[in-house]
Amino acid sequence: MKFKVLISDSMSNVAQKTFEQNNIQCDIKTDLSEEKIIEIINDYDALIVRSATKVTKNIIESSNNLKIIGRAGAGVDNIDLISAKAKNIIVMNTPGGNTNATAEHTLALILSLLRKIPYANESTHQGKWEKKKIKGQELSNKVIGLIGFGNVAIRLTQLLDGFNMEFQTYSKSFSNRKEKYPKIKNVSFDEILKTSDIISFHCKSSKNGEPLIKFDQLKMMKLNSIIINTARGNIIDENDLNKALNENIISGAAIDVYSNEPAKDNILFNNPKILLTPHIAASTNEAQIIVAKMIAEQVSEYLISGNIINNV
Ligand code: MLT
Repeated sequence: MKFKVLISDSMSNVAQKTFEQNNIQCDIKTDLSEEKIIEIINDYDALIVRSATKVTKNIIESSNNLKIIGRAGAGVDNIDLISAKAKNIIVMNTPGGNTNATAEHTLALILSLLRKIPYANESTHQGKWEKKKIKGQELSNKVIGLIGFGNVAIRLTQLLDGFNMEFQTYSKSFSNRKEKYPKIKNVSFDEILKTSDIISFHCKSSKNGEPLIKFDQLKMMKLNSIIINTARGNIIDENDLNKALNENIISGAAIDVYSNEPAKDNILFNNPKILLTPHIAASTNEAQIIVAKMIAEQVSEYLISGNIINNV
């Protein structure tokens, strides 16, 4: 029997090529509604997604042949893991595959915000030559607070190593690993908020969906501090962040992820203190090839040999 795989989000064609090399039939059908997926899902042994397809309880429960769901990327919050487990459907992701891309985008956001690059670009294009008005801040001697200390946070500290900064983290798993990272200070949640110049999120969102950062937490942060989120949208309460920036509680924010995606309408739009990108931290040619190849190889291996790699 020939296995059949559905790729329902756009990704590098390396995924399709890898499946075909493994003699697995691969269909690419993107932008499908939940109803449409339900209509066709019984034709497939595996479903491959990025973050756009919401793999809902309805989809999972209506599938009779689905053996595995593969996520080309790290976050699996678009997949109903409980329903998948109840139906013995394996879910796997590609940890590490887009780590460098995400860390580099985080660094780009930090520097762009501190040096006011988007504003300077726009004003220079308009012929305003605001040389005297635009003054940035340096990274040197700043304290960066990393909430979560996984692959992306670790890579970010490597990238930032030449900037003469202080690093601190709030991470539940850090104490077991601290010998490996002597430059990183392990602090409490309140302390990281109170003492960091830059707060950057590299953690999962909470299980109950409650934001980690609301107005009370923003009020604890330093006046000149900035907040960066390339992790997950619901980590920060967007209304409270907007309010904190409007009331000069903190000085800026750079956001790549949103409570509702695709974000076509959001309270943060048009706030000049916020730099926004459309969930592109992992979107580099290099990372997309890596995650597409990883997920296609892992899923092929499971279908052909039953070996489970990077099970979530
Ligand atoms: C991830 O979880 O890996 C990121 O959200 C990247 C993505 O697929 O856009």
